[in-house]
Amino acid sequence: MTWLITGGAGYIGAHVARAMTDAGERVVVLDNVTSGVPDRLPEAISLVEGSALDADLVRRVCADHEVTGVVHLAAHKQVGESVEKPELYYRENVGGLATLLEAVAAAGVRRFVFSSSAAVYGNPDTDLITESTPCAPVNPYGETKLAGEWLVRAAGRAHGMATVCLRYFNVAGAARPELADIGVFNVIPMVFDRLTRGESPRIFGDDYPTPDGTCIRDYIHVADLAEAHLAAARRLARPDAHGDLTLNIGTGQGVSVRELIDVIAEVSGDRTPALVEPRRPGDAPRAVASSALAEKELGWAATRGVREMVASAWAGWCLRHPGAPAK
Ligand SMILES: NC(=O)c1ccc[n+]([C@@H]2O[C@H](COP(=O)([O-])OP(=O)(O)OC[C@H]3O[C@@H](n4cnc5c(N)ncnc54)[C@H](O)[C@@H]3O)[C@@H](O)[C@H]2O)c1
Repeated sequence: MTWLITGGAGYIGAHVARAMTDAGERVVVLDNVTSGVPDRLPEAISLVEGSALDADLVRRVCADHEVTGVVHLAAHKQVGESVEKPELYYRENVGGLATLLEAVAAAGVRRFVFSSSAAVYGNPDTDLITESTPCAPVNPYGETKLAGEWLVRAAGRAHGMATVCLRYFNVAGAARPELADIGVFNVIPMVFDRLTRGESPRIFGDDYPTPDGTCIRDYIHVADLAEAHLAAARRLARPDAHGDLTLNIGTGQGVSVRELIDVIAEVSGDRTPALVEPRRPGDAPRAVASSALAEKELGWAATRGVREMVASAWAGWCLRHPGAPAK
């Protein structure tokens, strides 16, 4: 099989493209490099610069590279921006997905992996989120991921395409420092950013109903996430692959913001005490995945711990911020 990876020059996409190539899969990347970085990919991986929403280009790439499966990561992913620009998010994440599905189905593709997100659940009040926990997204980004899943399943049924939707929880870390996330949208880079500026990390609320009062999340190492994509691709490559799967991709382990900041202090050597600020609206006290279904269906489970994840993210941060506090 040859896999088309959209968004493969992005943070997660580059990890997926490398993990799949390293495992012997044939891969071609399509990325418009709006937030992607071509240097994340080795020369051995073909990169086509262009949009996954350009149906003619997608058809051409599928024909030129004899593509038989797609891993679709290209998307806009900032929650705050999605609140300000819902039309952009629906156009790119849902409308763009419809164009892509039509083009690849016409090109004969019958295997499709879709990047979804824990944002589809909103803020459920449960200890462990399973795939049957009701979906109730609380922002346009999460809505577009949920609508995307519906569309992927419907297109799968219409075209006889086997599909897997992967709902990622909080992704962090890097398999190599140069592959680290360059955005400052998630808690780990936000804390790094504050420390590098000589400021205290911030905790939004320490009066939640959790053991230390701070919010609990499920942090998944991006290298584990990349392996989940490889497992999904292998599952879809079976000759008898059919139907659709929707799977949580997390660790099942909750880590509080306070615990995370303690690990960051250990790893960075910067023990600047955190500042507690008021709660942010919309933050759930706890969001932890059950990944039992992914383990059963894909034979996949996360193996890397939070310290390894933070240390790898810190190495990537230091590469781009030579002024970061030395250990
Ligand atoms: N990072 C996370 O914590 C997280 C969590 C859940 C889900 N996701 C999903 O994972 C996917 C990848 O996220 P990421 O963190 O790697 O983001 P990223 O911004 O680093 O990567 C997205 C990539 O897609 C490319 N792209 C965007 N629009 C495109 C288009 N129209 N055509 C071709 N390429 C296009 C960008 O250039 C970039 O390389 C997204 O679908 C995102 O919603 C990410």
